[in-house]
Amino acid sequence: MTANIKITKPVLGDENEIASLLKETWLTTYVNKKYRIGKKDILSKDFDSKKKLAKWRKAIVSNGKCDYICVAKSDKKVIGICTAKKEKVKNKIGAIYVLTAYQRKGVGKKLLTRCVQWLGADKDIKLRAASFNRKAINFYVKNGFSILDKPFYYKELPNGKKFPLIEMELIQKSQK
Ligand SMILES: CC(C)(COP(=O)(O)OP(=O)(O)OC[C@H]1O[C@@H](n2cnc3c(N)ncnc32)[C@H](O)[C@@H]1OP(=O)(O)O)[C@@H](O)C(=O)NCCC(=O)NCCS
Repeated sequence: MTANIKITKPVLGDENEIASLLKETWLTTYVNKKYRIGKKDILSKDFDSKKKLAKWRKAIVSNGKCDYICVAKSDKKVIGICTAKKEKVKNKIGAIYVLTAYQRKGVGKKLLTRCVQWLGADKDIKLRAASFNRKAINFYVKNGFSILDKPFYYKELPNGKKFPLIEMELIQKSQK
């Protein structure tokens, strides 16, 4: 089903599709009654201003130095993205987002695997997820991550609204 989906590095020009993918998935993922996060709160985040698109272009050009971005493409259209960063103590998965219509078809796993390969096995890998994001938490657990008891963080949106984050970790074999 995902045979025609390719995992690749993004190229200049992909930034507009990356921005709209992130806007779509943030709206479907983080609007939340309990934490009073509405559409307007999510849209207080800058997804697609000229400045933001220029940041993406810069990241695409320097991709693979300390930070890594891979995208999933279906017929040249960006349908998923995953980012990773090499850090001093533990490496990090930044963001992973797959367009709703393409979720649960193995695309997330392919993206995550590519980023984990790029990070290498010398350090454990951490990430954060919204505490109410069962979909993502299930996904990470299925891919070997475990939930850490502490610390507990908050994600603050540009307009001041907050939601809780949990931290998860992938213990690499060389660290066991
Ligand atoms: C989390 C996400 C990246 C996973 O990508 P994906 O392509 O759907 O994942 P895969 O197909 O590789 O893996 C599927 C597994 O993910 C989890 N999952 C995905 N969608 C789910 C859902 N709607 N409900 C529960 N679990 C779900 C399950 O463990 C599932 O395995 P299963 O189908 O055997 O139950 C994707 O669902 C997504 O983009 N979600 C919205 C954005 C998001 O939450 N990003 C994470 C930010 S921390």
